[in-house]
Amino acid sequence: MAKINDNYLKLKAGYLFPEIGRRVRAFAAANPDAKIIRLGIGDVTQPLTPTILKAFHDAVDDLAKANTFMGYGPEQGYDFLIEAIIEKSYRPLGVELKNTEMFISDGSKCDCANILDIFALDNTVAIADPVYPVYNDTNVMIGRTGDADEKGYYKGLVYMPCTEENGFFPAYPREKVDMIYLCFPNNPTGTVATKEQLKGWVDYALANDSIILFDAAYEAFITDPTIPHSIYEVEGAKKCAIEFRSFSKTAGFTGVRCGVVVVPEELEGTTSTGEKYSFNKLWLRRQTTKFNGASYPVQKAAAAVYTDQGWKETKENIDYYMENARIIREGLSAAGLTVYGGVNGPYIWLKTPNGLTSWDFFDKLLNECNVVGTPGSGFGPSGEGYFRLSAFGNRDNVIEAVERIKKNLK
Ligand code: MLT
Repeated sequence: MAKINDNYLKLKAGYLFPEIGRRVRAFAAANPDAKIIRLGIGDVTQPLTPTILKAFHDAVDDLAKANTFMGYGPEQGYDFLIEAIIEKSYRPLGVELKNTEMFISDGSKCDCANILDIFALDNTVAIADPVYPVYNDTNVMIGRTGDADEKGYYKGLVYMPCTEENGFFPAYPREKVDMIYLCFPNNPTGTVATKEQLKGWVDYALANDSIILFDAAYEAFITDPTIPHSIYEVEGAKKCAIEFRSFSKTAGFTGVRCGVVVVPEELEGTTSTGEKYSFNKLWLRRQTTKFNGASYPVQKAAAAVYTDQGWKETKENIDYYMENARIIREGLSAAGLTVYGGVNGPYIWLKTPNGLTSWDFFDKLLNECNVVGTPGSGFGPSGEGYFRLSAFGNRDNVIEAVERIKKNLK
């Protein structure tokens, strides 16, 4: 009989968001009249903007005619999209990238998981706690860890607790690590990194021969002009960092699926016999073998984000969500809750009242307010006692959710 990948059995629970979905479905079935407001998973609610939609439609029409039909695309992505990203998203930051350093994908979640293919299993990996669960779980799945301890920490991973005391910002690991996941603006805490703080991490990585896996999925939500949008704004980062970007939240592509990974040509690792080797070459090899590219209409739609009109509309949606974030943050602070995030990122990270556990607060909000959020402990042990609300709801729901919570907490 074929043997399974036992590493999956080490995973403690189901993936966080399906588990929340399961509990909410059970509640809805038992309470069919409840008007449930979902501010749990960070899923967008605003439709694709007119300019993006038109590009999408036009590209589908291209597929209907023999002279404009497109079959397999380049595995790395079409140049029209790669060049738009370089020109409109990186050059204004003073970051110069080559087309060959950009890899268009079907979303950041897959990229963050798939990138592990090009790293040896005996690399030591550092992960923040709390953290986007994909970083942790994919390292377990691939076999880099032992079992989890009672706290939920997997043997073999180095955890960097992010707590109120350290401003939810990870401290450098005490032991030598080869790979470090960083996510700014942070999911789930909403924390951002200043240029000095990012420089600290780049210097640390260069000094320790480590690679930073930098998740910038929420960079478009930064409102403070002094906060960097890309790790490559820091000198030397191309020698030590891979960056992940996503159209999901930025342009409403959670269902459409498109992302980009930047793997600089300067980035090197070592072979098992000690020779230097390019990660860019490895990732290209991986993608050309295991991936056939994001679809042509999706890439056309993504490129439309960078047209003047497309960006204007996209920015309006981003501002809409950030206004939601303000409403949640200010409303819940006024209700006496301790609230973080929501200024340069779309997540509000709040301390549960009266020492409730994260899941107890989840149940309280669901049962008493019919509002769904995400228990902080689902992002790691240091998230216990915290709770995440997403700003991606529609405005009326966000206002109503805040009112319900305020009334409940009185
Ligand atoms: C979240 O809610 O943390 C995100 O939507 C999950 C994701 O982007 O995969």
